[in-house]
Amino acid sequence: MCGIVAYVGDRTAYPILIKGLQRLEYRGYDSAGVALINDGLHVYKCKGKVKDLEEHAKGKSITGNIGMGHTRWATHGIPSDTNSHPHISMNGKFVVVHNGIIENYAHLKKGLISRGYTFQSETDTEVLANLIESIYVEQKVSAEIAVRSALTKVIGAYGLVISCSDEKDKLIAARKGSPLVIGVGENEYFLASDATPIVEYTDKVVYMDDEEVAVITKDSFTLTNIQNDTKEANIQNVTLSIDEIDKGHYEHFMLKEIYEQPLSIEDTFRGRVTMDHSKIFLGGLTEALPQLLSTKRIIIIACGTSWHAGMVGEYLFEEYARIPVEVEYASEFRYRNPVIQEGDVIIAISQSGETADTLAAIKMAKERGATIVGICNVAGSSIPRETHAGVYTHAGPEIGVASTKAFTSQVTVLSMMAFLLGKMKGSLAPDNYIHLIKELGKIPDKIKKVLESDEYIKKIAETYKDASNALYLGRGNLFPVALEGALKLKEISYIHAEGYPAAEMKHGPIALIDENMPVFVIATKDKSYDKIVSNIQEVKARNGKVIAIVTEGDQTIKKMADHVIEVPDCHEAVAPLLTVIPLQFISYHIAVMRGCNVDQPRNLAKSVTVE
Ligand code: G6P
Repeated sequence: MCGIVAYVGDRTAYPILIKGLQRLEYRGYDSAGVALINDGLHVYKCKGKVKDLEEHAKGKSITGNIGMGHTRWATHGIPSDTNSHPHISMNGKFVVVHNGIIENYAHLKKGLISRGYTFQSETDTEVLANLIESIYVEQKVSAEIAVRSALTKVIGAYGLVISCSDEKDKLIAARKGSPLVIGVGENEYFLASDATPIVEYTDKVVYMDDEEVAVITKDSFTLTNIQNDTKEANIQNVTLSIDEIDKGHYEHFMLKEIYEQPLSIEDTFRGRVTMDHSKIFLGGLTEALPQLLSTKRIIIIACGTSWHAGMVGEYLFEEYARIPVEVEYASEFRYRNPVIQEGDVIIAISQSGETADTLAAIKMAKERGATIVGICNVAGSSIPRETHAGVYTHAGPEIGVASTKAFTSQVTVLSMMAFLLGKMKGSLAPDNYIHLIKELGKIPDKIKKVLESDEYIKKIAETYKDASNALYLGRGNLFPVALEGALKLKEISYIHAEGYPAAEMKHGPIALIDENMPVFVIATKDKSYDKIVSNIQEVKARNGKVIAIVTEGDQTIKKMADHVIEVPDCHEAVAPLLTVIPLQFISYHIAVMRGCNVDQPRNLAKSVTVE
């Protein structure tokens, strides 16, 4: 977890670092810090957010054209001023910011203590700073060699930026398992955990690979591996614009991202569906198409919201492509001894492309011979680089910790894949294939209609903002939407919520229902409609409050539910894309009314790069 930003060039580093940290706060926000390198070294760091850091640095010297910054999500040591990064080595020779975990830090620390080193913090990063310094001092080598040597002793994951007080013109960066991007400007360079702090200054970036070390001054940079073999820097153009990473007129990123969904889904289609909506083309899948068409089984692996998208995918692949699917939590999959058979295809879904468990599960499945297909949002991130083939979701940067537009883009990609495979395998008749593409193509406009209900949904949210529990029910491909609705409420408003397949309610949750229990039921017109109407009656018979998401014009449910939220009529295959929107709004408004920090909920982070 954690966000890193660094700068070397002619500009004053401090404002670049602060702005960069604000953009990276989604990666962690329990403490923040900067190191500014000029004649001397100034480190300012504190518990809290980047705005607390700015307060803390007010009135202090913030000059210097070289610097590094860090926003933290605690792993070793509680969030505190002392545990915040940057960390300085005992004799002040090295300053380090780190994203990742040094797994053998306790062993390394013991060795350093026996050689007289003392520690201020409880962090693994300070151990690394002292390890580098000890090698530098004892072996009288350059800073770069000391860093390389220290990294050969380290087990774990890292994205690192390091500076040495004897070589002040230089930043040393290294990556293994945690992302690091180099921004290449004119006589200036940037480093960051993703491209968002960089795009304002340059569109040229290099995504560092695992076990690479970069040495950067204001007018040069070299890229090598840990053994010091030269690596070729692949300079790419990044297409992110500043507008995409600003809040605009919205109060929160989450709200902006909810409203962006018609566009983000259009962007997911773009260039992949013909103008007349008669064909789907997914270029990134070419390498894996033979395996996808012949496989006897697909295993979808993901975490969090991406796992919910995977469950929608299960329904789609089974229904339209007639391929059996298993959906696995990446963390469970990787620690079992899963049976991976020849010809198995793994689809890994991840917004960030950096989730540690998903990445590790991919590596394991790859070693066992599976074909890996990625569905990711962040171009150049770690997961797409590990896969044989893949489809980017193109949803644009998602900053709010609670995922919204990434989910609908993931479901859009999964729908396109399922329809395409169904057509190619002959399990989906050509007419139905075209019909489904057209139905998918209508979704952005239909979402626009749902967005018009924002104020109405806000009023419903007002009624339930003080609830202590909530239940979400759905059937078929709307069951994962129920899970996603419950997750959204939990993560941003801290109300306990559970999602259930509606029929399972009778096997336990029904005991919880009383007049204080809001029950959100996704009840659009599909083949389970009559069944879900019965489920609503069961809730009402126990005095539960029913908020139903229904198809426009539904009179039956209107008569029995406490509130209905209408969505336009659509084919049941694409209903998850519409029905999730009101649930996103409900959670958003309840969280705002409860005074919660919507974009940065407590204890969570956008990108979980620790196991
Ligand atoms: C975190 C985020 C979730 C996200 C999950 C998986 O828990 O808060 O929003 O769904 O990680 O992340 P990924 O980037 O792999 O989709």
